[in-house]
Amino acid sequence: MWKPILPALLLIVSPVCLGTHVSQTRRFPNDFLWGVGSSSYQIEGGWNADDKDESIWDVLTHTHPEKIADQSNADISADSYHRWRRDVQMVKELHAGTYRFSLSWPRIMPGGYMNHVSTAGIKYYSNLIDELLRYNITPTVTIYHFELPQKLQELGGWTNPEIIPLFKDFARLVLEMYGDRVKIWTTINEPWHVCEHAYGLDYMAPSYNFPGIPAYLCGHNLLKAHAEVVHMYRDHFQKRQGGRIGISLDTSWPEPRNPDSAEDREASERAMQFYVGWFGHPIFSKHGNYPKVMIERIRNLSKEQDFGIRSRLPEFTTEEIHRIRGTADFFGINHYTSNLVTSNGHNNTGGFPVPSFNHDMGVVESQNEVDWPGSGSVWLRVYPKGMYNLLMWIHREYNSPEIIVTENGVSDRGGLEDYARVDYFNKYLSAVLDAIEDGVNISGYIAWSLMDSYEWKAGFSEKFGFYHVDFTSPQRTRTPKISARVFAQICKTNTIDWNYRPKLEQEQKLVVMAQHPAEEDQSRSSAAQEAISWSLMGALLLVLLR
Ligand code: GAL
Repeated sequence: MWKPILPALLLIVSPVCLGTHVSQTRRFPNDFLWGVGSSSYQIEGGWNADDKDESIWDVLTHTHPEKIADQSNADISADSYHRWRRDVQMVKELHAGTYRFSLSWPRIMPGGYMNHVSTAGIKYYSNLIDELLRYNITPTVTIYHFELPQKLQELGGWTNPEIIPLFKDFARLVLEMYGDRVKIWTTINEPWHVCEHAYGLDYMAPSYNFPGIPAYLCGHNLLKAHAEVVHMYRDHFQKRQGGRIGISLDTSWPEPRNPDSAEDREASERAMQFYVGWFGHPIFSKHGNYPKVMIERIRNLSKEQDFGIRSRLPEFTTEEIHRIRGTADFFGINHYTSNLVTSNGHNNTGGFPVPSFNHDMGVVESQNEVDWPGSGSVWLRVYPKGMYNLLMWIHREYNSPEIIVTENGVSDRGGLEDYARVDYFNKYLSAVLDAIEDGVNISGYIAWSLMDSYEWKAGFSEKFGFYHVDFTSPQRTRTPKISARVFAQICKTNTIDWNYRPKLEQEQKLVVMAQHPAEEDQSRSSAAQEAISWSLMGALLLVLLR
């Protein structure tokens, strides 16, 4: 009996009516580019298929499974090496205009050198690109997303300047092979992770755990390699192929722990210069080169630490500064969360190794565990204002570049009823919209991630996908989560509809039942509880309305 009046009651109690959310009429620009992303090692599997050789991640996961949360590896992962047609269907189901994926260097050039190019590897991405184009989906291709051929690592990887011509050779090949069909390129995903997390810490492969020195060598070579590729693209390909090229930097937003403290605000600015400016300043600023604060701090600390007159941060020549400056057609930014920051004084209250990137930066980070909701990852808490602050900072600092958000998303520990992910996207996208309305030039947003995948050191324990992947089934069955339906609606309508919270559909329920009978029981009992509380609320409102 109460059923027909439920929609009316819903309207009465909906948050929009209560005025706690912004009106539904706010729209993203008509030509706004919506997308979803993934990366080769995280989804492809086929780790030794055809003539593919090992990457640094194959070696790390095979030789040190104890370093991975669930001791797993991505040998098969979501098996996209064989299931790419289904992946493209999913992108289409999401109404996304672009699919951002990356190229596995050891799949295309197994040993890292030109002498061995894999026909199977070339064909794999060519097929994927054609399939995307068949559905009018623009491929956004990341040339390097953490997958270095192991052979090159044995030569020192990104710390060896030889990487510059080698990366250029790899890039030349893929621009030649795919550039006729790919119109959005990024050279490198997350240089800060490539350098600091992989060489400074025992985190991303190759897990050097050598703080304070090799990360800066890596950054130096990486910036030159990036610039060489962009110049090559502009000189030989861009006119003919008509695409655009950029880079994807990443950072959490450093929120001053005490906004009234000048010292905390300075720590926040310093953190931005170390995380984003390290790579952003040489490419996007007016004068190029590393940020002044990095040059000065690392030089002074190096001297204090008896390194002599040579700073641990290498120096660019004037010619190199000019060659790197301006080498991006857009600013790609990956962003997930925020930190509270304060200063690490000379007494090193942060307790950082000396020397180290963190000690050089001089910032102590924590998170707001009270007001910022958690997620499936310890490092990721929800603070949408951080997205807004970050976009405004890039806009101010680099004279209003065109920005594409190349990654943003949230993890959980599994399940198809991912309403927390729906909330996250609604809130973060609302922050993006705020920034657009305040004049920031944002042309696209690529959500992370198309499907659950191998989350690096977290293995399969953390899920970021719109699609659930059954990693126990040989077919690696993909099933849309609730968030997939919501994101599809956003891409289709260019708006955020705060009221749109669909329920699990029959086919999804069957998947849950088959895979996790216990989860289904739980969701049934919570559905029953929900029904009871709705009928109680309905009754209460009826009494009030009389
Ligand atoms: C980024 C990375 C992605 C993905 C994401 C979620 O740093 O580029 O590959 O893992 O984080 O943690």
